[in-house]
Amino acid sequence: MKDIFAKLHDKMGPLGMHADDAHGYFTFPKLEGPIGPRMKFRGVEKLNWSLNNYLGLANHPDVMKADTDAAQQFGMAYPMGARMMSGNSNYHEQLEHDLAEFINKPDVILLNYGYQGVVSAIDALIDRHDVVVYDAEAHACIIDGLRLHLGKRFVYKHNNIDDCEKQLIRATKLAEETGGGVMVITEGVFGMSGSQGKLKEIVALKEKYNFRLFVDDAHGFGTMGKTGAGTGEEQGCQDGIDIYFSTFAKSMAGIGAFIGSDPHVIKFLRYNMRSQIYAKALPMPMVVGSIKRLEMIRTQPEHKDNLWKIVHALQGGLKDAGFNIGITTTPVTPVLLNGTIPEATHLTYDLRENYNIFCSIVVYPVVPKGVIMLRLIPTAVHTLEDVETTINAFKSVKSKLDSGEYRKEKLAAVN
Ligand SMILES: Cc1ncc(COP(=O)(O)O)c(C=O)c1O
Repeated sequence: MKDIFAKLHDKMGPLGMHADDAHGYFTFPKLEGPIGPRMKFRGVEKLNWSLNNYLGLANHPDVMKADTDAAQQFGMAYPMGARMMSGNSNYHEQLEHDLAEFINKPDVILLNYGYQGVVSAIDALIDRHDVVVYDAEAHACIIDGLRLHLGKRFVYKHNNIDDCEKQLIRATKLAEETGGGVMVITEGVFGMSGSQGKLKEIVALKEKYNFRLFVDDAHGFGTMGKTGAGTGEEQGCQDGIDIYFSTFAKSMAGIGAFIGSDPHVIKFLRYNMRSQIYAKALPMPMVVGSIKRLEMIRTQPEHKDNLWKIVHALQGGLKDAGFNIGITTTPVTPVLLNGTIPEATHLTYDLRENYNIFCSIVVYPVVPKGVIMLRLIPTAVHTLEDVETTINAFKSVKSKLDSGEYRKEKLAAVN
């Protein structure tokens, strides 16, 4: 019999296989100093485009004060236990109430983490008789939730409504045989490409088919829609979303997540979501701090306005300079280049070391082989000068890429 760990050396996975060369630089980099567009990387200040701090709230003095006051008053332990047993509080309930009002849903349940919350909500809501139809580019938390699903699932081509309908027809037929129902799952904003899920078109399919719609709006909450209530608001179809999920990890610049839905659904989730029943409640500073963040999102539209000013300048400037930024219609800004993984590392190294620009680099298997994606996340606290500096730097590294300057056999040596 084999030692169960024997395979770990040769099966590090598509990302792990680069660990020895990349660790600490391309993977697991440490950004230091106050969260914002300028942070230190290996001791040197960089212009940073890699944080999902869309509205710039992470380091806002009012947010910092709310967090620290709550930490001083309650510490990090309170409340102890899962909410069902001994960990509920008026603050947790107030945050749920405020969120429900903001996203225009009758009720909300708080979740400790987004990833774990989505997995667990799918597990709770869908049984072996039910059939799921989901977008091919759905986030890992949706895919992993579906791994727990004992019934059938049909994937549709990313954002392809014809294919979605085709899979709905198959799912409907099957659910009629099994006696179950159908759930469609997609994202509001796809975090890599920046495209929006076609929520309005999916909701329109409800006229022909009987299904419920689950939307993960991690990147849309706070950034999309007139009030920032998300992609459903943006597309005018919030009512048609049966399960509205978002995380606090992006616009809310915190930790935790929530689901908004009808009261009987939320009540069911409160009593059946294993990740909530069997896990400690969110600590008070996160809850009180989130109440403050939400109040700021609701009452201070300038954060979203600033974000979009930067988004338009960055995306417009990149396009004018001839860059391919794909099909984004949201703040997520991919810059798509062609090259190998070694080229991607040499380009990124040059960008970081010689132009002092830090952004995320995405390669195969997240994007197809031969594509290098530099992913920029504009925020409300970037400036127009930051945009100009970045576009000039991108022009320079792109011309080096095109002239073959980064064409090397090996990854950039960084350690
Ligand atoms: C689309 C999407 N869903 C869910 C999550 C997970 O949220 P959390 O970080 O709160 O676990 C993320 C990433 O944060 C995400 O991008």
